[in-house]
Amino acid sequence: MQHHLLATDDEDDRPFRIRPPKPRKPQAASLADEEPHPLANATYRMTRFETSWLPESLGPFLEQSLITDVEALVRGGKEATVYRCTPGETLDCRWLAAKVYRPRALRNLRNDAMYREGRGFLTADGRPVKRSDHRIIRAIGKKTTYGVQAQHTSWLMHEFVSLQKMHAAGAPVPKPYAASENAVLMEYVGDENGAAAALSQVALDPETARPLLRDILRGIDILAGLGLAHGDLSAYNVLYSDGRAVIIDFPQVVELSGNPHAEEILYRDVLRVCEYFQAQGVKCVVDRIFDRIWATVERPDPAEMGANEGPVVRQPDRARK
Ligand SMILES: Nc1ncnc2c1ncn2[C@@H]1O[C@H](COP(=O)(O)OP(=O)(O)OP(=O)(O)O)[C@@H](O)[C@H]1O
Ligand SMILES: [Mg+2]
Repeated sequence: MQHHLLATDDEDDRPFRIRPPKPRKPQAASLADEEPHPLANATYRMTRFETSWLPESLGPFLEQSLITDVEALVRGGKEATVYRCTPGETLDCRWLAAKVYRPRALRNLRNDAMYREGRGFLTADGRPVKRSDHRIIRAIGKKTTYGVQAQHTSWLMHEFVSLQKMHAAGAPVPKPYAASENAVLMEYVGDENGAAAALSQVALDPETARPLLRDILRGIDILAGLGLAHGDLSAYNVLYSDGRAVIIDFPQVVELSGNPHAEEILYRDVLRVCEYFQAQGVKCVVDRIFDRIWATVERPDPAEMGANEGPVVRQPDRARK
């Protein structure tokens, strides 16, 4: 892959030009002259690998005093690593979670084309890229360094913007605080004993589980009302904390009106949630729940979408991802 190659000189790509590397210091300069990186005094001791990208990813949050320390690593996922951070004085919470995406060249790229269909690109300030902005559209199409970075930023901005909309609508998601080009800062779900467990790790009796199912379905309803589906919903992406369910991990959110696979993807979300709750002894009928939600979704005429939609797959691959 050529993602990490230097940018071309294509004039059209200029707005997303990555700054050229700073000239090396003259050999004579001693190491003591170099500025310590912003996490040099953090409680969490970074590995050498993290040192190459973590300070840059969290630097903007430190500069704005949104966080004052990185305390511990919570968990490394496939695409991102989550850290527990100390919030700045202005924020009224005990901890924050920073989800830091691996540099794009080191990411285990999810096959995301199916999720991106029909949804726009978002810029680093969360605004949709206009169709008339040919420069970025072309850079993305040509997969230049700028285009790939813009796509990467768009991927995580979809997570941030969805969290904002969901949280504002009262859905059970972590409160989002800020986003940088490579990280999302949000409410930490957990307590002094550690981060919350994923629902997939927890066995519940039906009485305890039932209200959680209601919360998650309310979350799916709110998302559908916003014209979106999670796209990777399962008990792995729901945290269980203090008797409540909190839905996480939104970068692949799917546009219900513009994505020809929307019905299949939403069905799979509902199916996976129901599979977990059925295993806890809660009665739920997947087709009935799905049909109720789908009936509320406003969709254009399939012919207008120009997609060659096949029949809806109602028994999607049960393997996770
Ligand atoms: N707000 C949060 N508070 C506490 N822990 C969190 C929070 N967000 C994420 N985590 C933890 O970090 C893990 C990874 O987060 P997330 O699922 O968003 O990233 P991911 O890279 O897509 O992971 P995966 O590929 O495993 O799904 C979660 O499973 C959870 O354990
Ligand atoms: Mg996840």
